[in-house]
Amino acid sequence: MDLEGRDIISIRELTREEIDWILKTADSMEPIAKKGSDMLKGKILATLFFEPSTRTKLSFETAMLKLGGETIGFAEPEAASIKKGESLADTIRVIQNYSDVIVLRHPLEGAARFAAEYAEIPIINAGSGSEEHPTQALLDLYTIRREKGGIDGLNIALVGDLRYGRTVHSLAYALSLYNVKLYLVSPSLLRMRREVIEDIKGKIEVIEGLGLEEVIPDVDVLYVTRIQKERFPDLSEYAKVKGSYMINLDVLKGAKDDMIILHPLPRVDEVAVEVDSTPYAKYFKQVWYGVIVRMAILALILGAVK
Ligand code: CP
Repeated sequence: MDLEGRDIISIRELTREEIDWILKTADSMEPIAKKGSDMLKGKILATLFFEPSTRTKLSFETAMLKLGGETIGFAEPEAASIKKGESLADTIRVIQNYSDVIVLRHPLEGAARFAAEYAEIPIINAGSGSEEHPTQALLDLYTIRREKGGIDGLNIALVGDLRYGRTVHSLAYALSLYNVKLYLVSPSLLRMRREVIEDIKGKIEVIEGLGLEEVIPDVDVLYVTRIQKERFPDLSEYAKVKGSYMINLDVLKGAKDDMIILHPLPRVDEVAVEVDSTPYAKYFKQVWYGVIVRMAILALILGAVK
C-alpha cells in the first residue's frame, strides 16, 4: 500500500484497508514521538488556517517537528496577502513553492478540493466549513481502537450538533466501513445531514430519534460535540438549541463501566468538568493520539513510510 503524494480531502476517498494502515502506522509513531526522528528532515509543512484552531494546527506542526521537518504558515489570513485580494488559487500556487505538503482549514465547503486542483503537492483538509474534517476522524478511530481494543462490534453514539459539526460527518462516513451500530442523538434542528445518512444507511445500522438517556446504557463510545454557534445563519435558531445536552455524572449513572467519552474539542458546556476525572473521559488522551496519527499521515504522504 502506498499513500505517497495523496491528498486527504474527504475520508470517503480512503478505503478501510488504507485507514487501518494509517492507524497501524500511528502505533509505530508513538516511540518515535517520544525520542524524535529525522524521518522528514528537509521537508516543509505549510499550515494555512483561514479559521481558528488550537489542536489541528499545533498537532500537525508538532507532528512535523517530531519527524525532523520544518513548518511555515499563517493562522491570521488578515496578515497575509489575502487581505490585499489574493485568491485562494493563487495563494496555493505560491505556497507550494515553499513547502512539500499543505494543511488547509477554510470556512467554505469544497475549499480543500478546490485547492487540490491547483496544487502539485498534497493538500490535507484540516476542516472545510461544516463539510468534513478527515484527519480528526482518523484520530477518533485511532482513539476508539486504542481504548476499546478495536472498532468492529461496538455501539457508538454521536451526540450534539450533527448538522454543522464537520467532525461527525467524517466520523460517520469512516465508521460505516466498520461493523458498528451508530446512534445519532441531536435536537431535530441539528439532525445529521440527509446525504450523510443516506450514504451510511445500508452499510451499518443507524438509529435516530432516541434521547440520550435511552441510548447511554447501550453504548460503548459516546462521541460528544459542541453546538457550532458560528455556523448558524440565524442566532435565534442557536438560542433554541443552546445547552441541549450536558453530559454530567448524573447522566452517566446508567452507562456501562467501560464506556468511553470522546470529544473533538473545544468543549463549551456539553461535558461537565466533573466528568474529566472519571475513567470515561478520554478526550485529553485523544489529543495526544492526534499527534501520532498526524505523524503517520505526514510520514505516509511524504513517502517516508511505505
Ligand atoms: N478538533 C479540532 O479541530 O480542534 P481545533 O479547532 O482546535 O483545531
